[in-house]
Amino acid sequence: MSVKAILLGAGVRGADVYAQHALQFPEELEIVAVAEPDEERRAVFAREHHIQAEYVFSDWKEALQGARYADAVMICTQDRMHYEATMMALEQGYHVLLEKPISPSPEECVEIEAAARRCNRIVLVCYVLRYTPFWSSIKQVIDAGSIGRIVNIQLCENIGFAHMAHSYVRGHWSKTSESSPMILAKSCHDLDIILWLMQQDCRRLTSFGSLFHFKRENKPADAPLYCTDGCPHVKECCYADLRYYLGEGRRRALHFTKDPTDEHIRDVIRETPYGRCVFQCDNDVVDHQVVNMEFRNGATASFTLSAFTHDSSRMVQISGTSGEIRGNLEKQTFTVYDFVDDTSQEMHVHDEGREGCTAMMHEFCRLVSSQPHNRSDLSTVLRGSVQSHMMAFAAERSRLHDGMPMDIQQLTRYYQQVVSNPLAGTCSER
Ligand SMILES: NC(=O)c1ccc[n+]([C@@H]2O[C@H](COP(=O)([O-])OP(=O)(O)OC[C@H]3O[C@@H](n4cnc5c(N)ncnc54)[C@H](O)[C@@H]3O)[C@@H](O)[C@H]2O)c1
Repeated sequence: MSVKAILLGAGVRGADVYAQHALQFPEELEIVAVAEPDEERRAVFAREHHIQAEYVFSDWKEALQGARYADAVMICTQDRMHYEATMMALEQGYHVLLEKPISPSPEECVEIEAAARRCNRIVLVCYVLRYTPFWSSIKQVIDAGSIGRIVNIQLCENIGFAHMAHSYVRGHWSKTSESSPMILAKSCHDLDIILWLMQQDCRRLTSFGSLFHFKRENKPADAPLYCTDGCPHVKECCYADLRYYLGEGRRRALHFTKDPTDEHIRDVIRETPYGRCVFQCDNDVVDHQVVNMEFRNGATASFTLSAFTHDSSRMVQISGTSGEIRGNLEKQTFTVYDFVDDTSQEMHVHDEGREGCTAMMHEFCRLVSSQPHNRSDLSTVLRGSVQSHMMAFAAERSRLHDGMPMDIQQLTRYYQQVVSNPLAGTCSER
């Protein structure tokens, strides 16, 4: 029997990534309802998935009204809409596939964890990186003991200058107040990977970072508000809008148009936030940040994110007591050095770009369809995700307090206390 799911938010992630699983593996997943305010997206999606008219909604709240009619809800709306929908879905007895971040609010993350436990439901956070061939192969090497005990991890996230301009200067994730701080919006994946590889609780961390480049003081004096309003710098500006959207950024033009042809992009760009000069947006998230972490057993890790890189990639170096791993996600390769035998082995993985999402969706369908659900297994699914969110909240607090060290357990306890009675609430009979 396939898992029956409701999709909330038929945008890039919901429609073009996760729901594709239902078309590819109909024996595992069927989308039985959709909620999406954009009329065109909603209609296209409903047609593609053969959804009956009475299960096509324009708002997520309508889709969750009344008695439960599916097994799971896939929450793929924007960051600040995750909390309310997740709480309502859990209380109605649905399992949840939840896009990261769980929520931009630490208190809400704690509440969601408590509600998942109380309602005995799965909440799988879309930490797709864990499921990619690159990271899962590295994890296997570590778990096999090939490098001994991990002492240190260095992870660099290269955002890519053009991706930075699209998502974090002009786009959805450019303002902390409307989405989340960068360390949560972009890098909770990385903190999760560090925690997952380390297999140790993070004890404390410090962080520094700022918005260095994308601000008004760096604007050329004669640059207009929109690139296409005759900006004299478009030829030498690596952030000029059409340069990206008519080239390698065409896929991301889907964020502002369903028709990413040259002609259409040229027509509409000036009317969207994506046509703005990168020095004249209302962005405030950082464009570079570093985090230093110490774990329960004394091991350490450092994480660096930078917008100022040629492409979007990640580089990692993992030092163990008897070996080392050095990897490059972009190149899909990593090398395992064995200090005992004095050998090294280069490993190549293959990923067309969707393998992590597909593996994660297989896992979600497996979890939802395996009955009965064991309470401790269920909470383990979410606990690691909440902890890496806490690391992100701690890093942001540290950054805003001049690099002050943050104790993760203390901070988590603080948020647990401020959440009023997290065990209160109701859950539907199942
Ligand atoms: N796991 C990852 O690697 C990853 C990558 C990118 C984005 N994300 C996260 O995925 C989420 C969605 O991002 P996206 O890029 O798909 O954005 P998107 O804007 O393309 O999709 C969000 C959709 O939600 C819809 N929506 C808005 N209000 C709604 C409502 N009231 N009811 C139902 N739907 C509503 C929007 O119309 C839109 O279609 C975000 O939280 C983002 O942070 C995760």
